[in-house]
Amino acid sequence: MNTDSDFQQLLLENILNTDIFIRATFSGQQKGQSLRWERVTLRPVLIKQKRHLQFSYFDATQHITHNHADDAVVTELTQLLHLPFRNFSVVTKHEQVQINISKKGKPVITRHKIETAETPDLAHDRTKNHALAEGTPQPFLVEIGIMTDDGRIKAGQRDKFRQINEFLRLLAETGSLSQFEKQPLRAVDFGCGSAALTFALYHYLQQGRQRPAQVTGVDVKTHLIERHREIAQKLGWQSLTFEPTTIQEYQPETPPDIVIALHACDTATDDAIAQGIRWNSKIIICAPCCHHDLQAQLAAQPTPTPFMPVLRYGLFHERIGDVLTDSFRTLILRRMGYRVDVVQFVPAEHTPKNLMIRAVKVSEQSNSDAEREYAELQQYWQVTPYLQRLLNFS
Ligand SMILES: C[S@@+](CC[C@H](N)C(=O)[O-])C[C@H]1O[C@@H](n2cnc3c(N)ncnc32)[C@H](O)[C@@H]1O
Repeated sequence: MNTDSDFQQLLLENILNTDIFIRATFSGQQKGQSLRWERVTLRPVLIKQKRHLQFSYFDATQHITHNHADDAVVTELTQLLHLPFRNFSVVTKHEQVQINISKKGKPVITRHKIETAETPDLAHDRTKNHALAEGTPQPFLVEIGIMTDDGRIKAGQRDKFRQINEFLRLLAETGSLSQFEKQPLRAVDFGCGSAALTFALYHYLQQGRQRPAQVTGVDVKTHLIERHREIAQKLGWQSLTFEPTTIQEYQPETPPDIVIALHACDTATDDAIAQGIRWNSKIIICAPCCHHDLQAQLAAQPTPTPFMPVLRYGLFHERIGDVLTDSFRTLILRRMGYRVDVVQFVPAEHTPKNLMIRAVKVSEQSNSDAEREYAELQQYWQVTPYLQRLLNFS
């Protein structure tokens, strides 16, 4: 069994190893404990050509950043490890280490090998670039009804505001935007709905990252598209466009570099992923919504015997269907040369649909490990995921 000091030592060794460390997130609080911070993230940054470790502390309303070098890193990290966080995730060039503290206070450690290492983005002001601050009026947030003219978040809009910042943070965290040389950067937001995230993405790329960008929101709801077009025009954002069409029928003049689909319904997430794969987009980010297609296939199949006690209960059946659908999606993306991770998007208390799948294209070769894993999982469950049907492979 692992002891507390084992897991703290494992975290220290990985985070302090400057040759391999990429980023870490500590989040949640242990049962019966209280903690000021919702989340702390760590990453290496270069300041005046010297390597520092950036500690970003987030609570419900603000975030504070400290940059340290040399011994001060060890001091702050050691203090941090004494706080009662529940979840620890560390990404290095070789593996992702996940540690969760159980209700009984025991650390549960899982480790996954990383096939293609990511290159850390060492810009030290990246976090500042993406965060939208309360108290600073942002014309687009005012226009879409989230902020008042004097920069206050309107009643009932706080969750949306936090979701926007969370989305921008998770996009920035891929560390991939700085690696695109192409100008302008092209992004499409499929199933954009009320388009708060589409406007935020455009603002972030153009103003936060200072990158010329063309962003398109796509949705079947024509009345929403009309309204978004009016707002984009009012803001003078000429490269932000909206198309009233389906994900399947959308045909860009130039294939987008970034494909986003957040809470697009059921198989619309697969339609979006399939488009991104066909276009060879560099980044595909989706937050899946309801999962009906595989649920129906699972219900029509004889249950694999070891899973009889699990699938006896409707709720478990639903959750297994959700997890399997998303697992097949991650395997298909990996198979197609994407580096994939799965992270929490919005806190679980706001919606149970709180996963985000982030995929970054790292190879033009097909990944044979992912292909084998996919075949084994499919053989076991005897299902044909919708995304596989869309991409037409066996
Ligand atoms: C739950 S809303 C999410 C809105 C937005 N992405 C967000 O996260 O705030 C889902 C949106 O996807 C749109 N949608 C669903 N299926 C679609 C499809 N096949 N093509 C285009 N839009 C679709 C719906 O009209 C709806 O506006």
